[in-house]
Amino acid sequence: MSYRLLTIRALRDRLARHPAGRVALSLLHVAVTAALPLLLLWLAGCSTEPAPRDTHSPVSDNGEISSFFYSLLLYLDAAILAIVVAVWAYALVKFKKQDGDDTLPEQSHGNMKLEVIWTAIPTLIVVAITVPMLVGVFKMSKRHDPNQPVVEVDVTGKQWWWEFDYKNGVGAGLHTANELHLPADTAITLHMTSADVIHAWWVPRLGGKRDANPGRTYPMSFTPKVPGIYDGQCAELCGSSHALMGTKLIVHPIAAEIEVEYKGQKVKIESYDSWVKAQQQPAKAPVAELEKGLKLFKERTCPSCHLINGLEGTDVAARSASSGPNLTHVGSRMGIAANTLVNNPENIAKWISKPSAVKPGAKMPDGLVTPEDAKTIAAFLSSLK
Ligand code: CUA
Repeated sequence: MSYRLLTIRALRDRLARHPAGRVALSLLHVAVTAALPLLLLWLAGCSTEPAPRDTHSPVSDNGEISSFFYSLLLYLDAAILAIVVAVWAYALVKFKKQDGDDTLPEQSHGNMKLEVIWTAIPTLIVVAITVPMLVGVFKMSKRHDPNQPVVEVDVTGKQWWWEFDYKNGVGAGLHTANELHLPADTAITLHMTSADVIHAWWVPRLGGKRDANPGRTYPMSFTPKVPGIYDGQCAELCGSSHALMGTKLIVHPIAAEIEVEYKGQKVKIESYDSWVKAQQQPAKAPVAELEKGLKLFKERTCPSCHLINGLEGTDVAARSASSGPNLTHVGSRMGIAANTLVNNPENIAKWISKPSAVKPGAKMPDGLVTPEDAKTIAAFLSSLK
């Protein structure tokens, strides 16, 4: 018996000489052919897990419209691709050049009937897509009637976080950051603007993006339908920490508290009214062991940018393009640094002791607090529920 290194071609030839080998080759061929599309799906990032930023699971009227057109285009395009590939494959087999046959195939240019058909069909398809899509675009850009009950919130993009000012409804006057809380089944109009460069508000499951431009205000009207927690992301390149400018949308039930699933965890969401009531409270004075945190917060000049309503010496910051997030209830938020880190005392300490390490270019300067002071301040901030 001789041992020789076989090339793939030699191995294939050898296998092809035996009936069992031919079956094995066919099976291998089928396996490779089936694996290629699966490999493509895998490379495309397809997953059966629920994705937090999935535009195919809309939670608002606008989301339903954009998801419908996405699906319409996807299925229509898939059908067209299947037809084109089928005709092409048929032609490949049927009109394959035969050995010894050098005659020219029948020439069909200038065939009026064909020209009309392949101009008319794509035109009809484009019209069938464009007309309903225009209707959808106008529906999505329609403002809610301001004479009806509408919750309106001013949304201001800042490098690199989001500021919210509630204009009316039970929450009128609330001033919060990064996590936008809205009531379900209620007409909402957001007014987008920016304090510095162009940002874009985008919560994929809500449907649609809206630019936040300095010096201008653009409205975005919609009705959230499903209570839950939805991730969002600034969608306009706005500087070094653009990718770290996240947001969260929390849609509250109107009536009682409910439990929702968020990233595999069960999370309770209270009613919108009870969230508003909690946010309207002034900050609680810290208990004795947290008082040092408040003292350091004031000494390290934090109140010159950050408001904490209701504590002496912490509600002095003037609102400006460069002022930072309102921290009155910072402990009640899920994330910090615009959703870059999970909100807990360790992460707050990490964030404030060296902001540039968490968020390059952040306006909060490095070196304001020592790592030891940062821990003390973080314990106090975390208590502000
Ligand atoms: Cu703000 Cu990108």
